[in-house]
Amino acid sequence: MLRTHTCGELRLSDKGKTVTLCGWVQRIRDKGKLLWIDLRDRYGITQITLEEGVAHSQLFEIARKINREFVLQVVGTVEERISKNDKIATGDIEIRPTQIVILNPAKLPPFLIEDDTDGGDDLRMKYRYLDLRRNVVRNNLILRHRMAIAVRNYLDKLQFVEVETPVLIKSTPEGARDFVVPSRMNPGEFYALPQSPQTFKQLLMVSGFDRYYQIVKCFRDEDLRADRQPEFTQIDCEMSFVTQEDILDTFEGLIRYLFKEIKGIELPAFPRITYADAMKYYGNDKPDLRFDMKICDLTDLARGKGFQVFDSAEVVLAICAKGCADYTRKQLDELTEWVRRPQIGMKGLVWVKWSNDGLKSSVDKFYSPDDLEKWAIRSQAQQGDLLLLLSGPEKTTRKAMSELRLEMGERLGFRKKDNYKALWVVDFPLLEWDEEANRWNAMHHPFTSAKSEDISFLETNPAAVRANAYDMVINGVEVGGGSIRIHDRAMQEKMFELLGLSPQEAKLKFGFLMEAFEYGAPPHGGIAFGFDRLCALFGGADSIRDFIAFPKNNHGRDVMIDSPSEISQEQLKELHIAVTFVKQT
Ligand code: AMO
Repeated sequence: MLRTHTCGELRLSDKGKTVTLCGWVQRIRDKGKLLWIDLRDRYGITQITLEEGVAHSQLFEIARKINREFVLQVVGTVEERISKNDKIATGDIEIRPTQIVILNPAKLPPFLIEDDTDGGDDLRMKYRYLDLRRNVVRNNLILRHRMAIAVRNYLDKLQFVEVETPVLIKSTPEGARDFVVPSRMNPGEFYALPQSPQTFKQLLMVSGFDRYYQIVKCFRDEDLRADRQPEFTQIDCEMSFVTQEDILDTFEGLIRYLFKEIKGIELPAFPRITYADAMKYYGNDKPDLRFDMKICDLTDLARGKGFQVFDSAEVVLAICAKGCADYTRKQLDELTEWVRRPQIGMKGLVWVKWSNDGLKSSVDKFYSPDDLEKWAIRSQAQQGDLLLLLSGPEKTTRKAMSELRLEMGERLGFRKKDNYKALWVVDFPLLEWDEEANRWNAMHHPFTSAKSEDISFLETNPAAVRANAYDMVINGVEVGGGSIRIHDRAMQEKMFELLGLSPQEAKLKFGFLMEAFEYGAPPHGGIAFGFDRLCALFGGADSIRDFIAFPKNNHGRDVMIDSPSEISQEQLKELHIAVTFVKQT
């Protein structure tokens, strides 16, 4: 090896040793008679000190050619530092060099390779390999590595077998568009990249693997957000001969194990909330339980008092912001503007303050103190609290209220990153109506089974059928989801029919799976976790990007390698693709 030690390991106990270090120049300070080089590698930083009269003058000559990010090999003796630095682990020592070799010079990097960098997002993405030299980003990837090892340890102990499934497949629908790959050997035909290994893991159950997992790349062509990437990683799992309860137990165990191993946190048992209650009390299916502030329905109390806006509204909903009765006019106006933003889309906001002088509202003209008191009682408000009301069509108002609840939680400091509140959301509807396509869609995916007690509604009232489906939610983030599957052909056929697939289409797309169900398919179910999301949560970040070594930007581009990119006419010809692209500007 070119080095005897790393830049992070030498201590006072190594005093007097001759060592060889390799690394990058973090900083160089030249005071004439004294010159310091901070040498950095993955493990830390070690100070190299050159002193006139002690170090050979040739060393000063070499050192003065050196700049930031040069790659060096330094041979020298470990000495005790006069002025120690208790901020770094090697701060008690320094190296007095006898030899400095420039292994490779470096251009000045386009941004500072330091924890607080001056590089903007775009620049850091273009030079991602330099960004990865920064402690913060590297530590995220090391966290990811440790999480992956812990996942494997936990599942291995429980007899799960990791099996790789193919990447060039045919469509596995999870509600997004497929990325497709043309086949040179099969003119006019395309593979699809897996949105998940769903069908393969079910086939592995038919094969008798019993317990499968895979830390696996999935691909979805959908609009990107902070918690979505076009290629992302799942911890994908499946089990045979289990009930929903067994799956929830096993995988609650996995997440609690990860919290214990990685963060030293003992999480209590996860509460369970039905989908219906999550929508009712929090306005969405991934409630952030770090704070309460449940949504309260005031429709019946608010209507019929001559206030046109509420009278004509399908619902009037309220949240109670504890201790916020002293909100100023300015703060309330600001909140009103906030709900009027196009992303939220409400026309206005009604407030009720319960201060020392009693109840006051922005709609005092229409409602007596008695009316307001009824609202306050239902919303469990007390003196000192502030009620915020939104009204309109049920779906949009609940959604907007959910956003307002989160915003208030944020403003009141309830959404601390190091406070973890995990839960299960259960009893999802099996189907959801797709207005655009005018048909039912599977809410989870088409392989999900219905609750046996609801099956009879499949013909009469499909919207009322609940699924054996569940999501795990932590701090308002859906970290995982799964279901107990259909495992018999007739039921799977019926499901495809409900989803508007003709028997021919169903056979063409999923004939292989339905046939497999006829060769002894065990009852089975599973779950998949968004691994990038879990890593970001554990790392205390909102964006999954910094937990992926080489992520895509919001336009799905890798700006470092400049992809996607055009391909040559020859390549297109070879792939039997004859298209002229009209580039949109
Ligand atoms: P689902 O579609 O819910 O289920 O995906 C499972 C989990 O994957 C994560 N996830 C994503 N993470 C980053 N970027 C994305 N674009 C993205 N899309 C999803 C989420 C999500 O909870 N086959 C089923 C699982 C099963 O039924 O066993 C599936 O893929 O955290």
